[in-house]
Amino acid sequence: MDRITVAEARKPESIGREVLLQGWVRTRRDSKAGFSFLEINDGSSMGNIQIVAPGELENYESEVKKLSPGCSVSVAGVVRESPGKGQATEVQATRVTVHGTADVETYALQKKRHSFEFLRTIAHLRPRTNTFGAVARVRNCVSNSIHQFFQDEGFLYVHTPIITASDCEGAGEMFQVTTLNLADPPKHAGRVDFAQDFFDRPSYLTVSGQLEAEIFACALSKVYTFGPTFRAENSNTSRHLAEFWMVEPEMAFFELADNMDLAERFLKRIFQDVLDRCPEDMEFFNLRIDKTVLETLRAIVGSEFVRLPYTEAVEILGKSGETFEFPVDWGKDLQAEHERFLTEKHFQCPVILFDYPREIKPFYMRVGDDGRTVRAMDVLVPKVGEIIGGSQREERLDVLQQRMAEQGLHADDYWWYLDLRRYGTVPHAGFGLGLERCVQFITGMANIRDVIPFPRTPGSAEF
Ligand code: 4AD
Ligand code: MG
Repeated sequence: MDRITVAEARKPESIGREVLLQGWVRTRRDSKAGFSFLEINDGSSMGNIQIVAPGELENYESEVKKLSPGCSVSVAGVVRESPGKGQATEVQATRVTVHGTADVETYALQKKRHSFEFLRTIAHLRPRTNTFGAVARVRNCVSNSIHQFFQDEGFLYVHTPIITASDCEGAGEMFQVTTLNLADPPKHAGRVDFAQDFFDRPSYLTVSGQLEAEIFACALSKVYTFGPTFRAENSNTSRHLAEFWMVEPEMAFFELADNMDLAERFLKRIFQDVLDRCPEDMEFFNLRIDKTVLETLRAIVGSEFVRLPYTEAVEILGKSGETFEFPVDWGKDLQAEHERFLTEKHFQCPVILFDYPREIKPFYMRVGDDGRTVRAMDVLVPKVGEIIGGSQREERLDVLQQRMAEQGLHADDYWWYLDLRRYGTVPHAGFGLGLERCVQFITGMANIRDVIPFPRTPGSAEF
């Protein structure tokens, strides 16, 4: 007897095999002819396997006939062709062992469908639903695809720190890390004395692994980091999390156009892998969540992304005749509504916006030849908006120092970053893909809180 997954048992090739299946009951139906049907799921696929449990089982009356959604079981039996509709196979059980019961009165996941809002309040149980199982499998597929893509392209995976003393994005949205006694912190000259803190200085959770990835790119050429990042921005939107996962490639000798080429190839590879490897889950999202996801992904894989300078985007927006909540002016950052107009309405495909005004972008972005813009790029996609942010990096020491001064940053705090420009500086570039925004786009899930297992947002960190 082989222990196999539900996914395997559902394949016609398994017919005739003696197997052991283990999982959770989704439903039970009793036949008047004295046997029961159980639907079992173990997370290996969206679909369940049907178990035929004969009345002859020794625990049929005492246990099997009491099984309800959520109960855990091991089933030994033989896979056979299913005479029923909608499934190729079923399992004729010779033994059903019950591991755990689930009280019908108190267990929330009965037949009724719950709202995603409600399911967020039971984040410890929601992985057992069809939607969250499918999200978990797609998220896994995307993560795997990310590693495969970069490994195939000759990148080294580097692990950048979670705790840091520098604010990469300069946006001041960092969570502080401290072991000082908050009720009575040590003081020096009237202020909290961080020299007595664990790291001898104020330290934070990282908002991005980029600066450290640059260190490795300036030695090993092509690297990527992929880990959790943290932002204390108080934005309660369907696209922001306080803790999210970011993939950040960084490449020596890459200029902005190379960076765009890589980002486009990268996204297409992820989308193609999900289409190839998660067909059943994607059918589900297309049917239940968003009727356009399959069509959109297939179209994108075979299309070219639009590449548009910020200045031209501002012109298009100005002439669009749309009424936006926020006005569009050269020099102002684009809002989600502007980004969505461009990618959803105007071009109806992914758009790479580049060459943004220098004032609205971080210090590390390379100043363009016009002096007014920096070599930034954002990849925008329909419904989600910005999915990737990146740039060519400023490799000229004097320009970088000037940019830091402009933005009120202290060169002393970044001495090691400046050293990369002092010793063997090279043109280089990179970008960051928000994993959750990517999974959101692929699945069509409306809220980013439903594509990460345990969402951290303002006021919410229970599970
Ligand atoms: O555009 P961002 O802020 O870029 C950086 O952090 C660069 N240091 C990346 C780099 O060049 N290596 O963030 C990159 C991406 C965004 O495009 C978005 O997809 C995602 O990270 N992101 C968030 N996702 C969820 N919640 C948030 N609060 C996010 N902030 C950014
Ligand atoms: Mg950005």
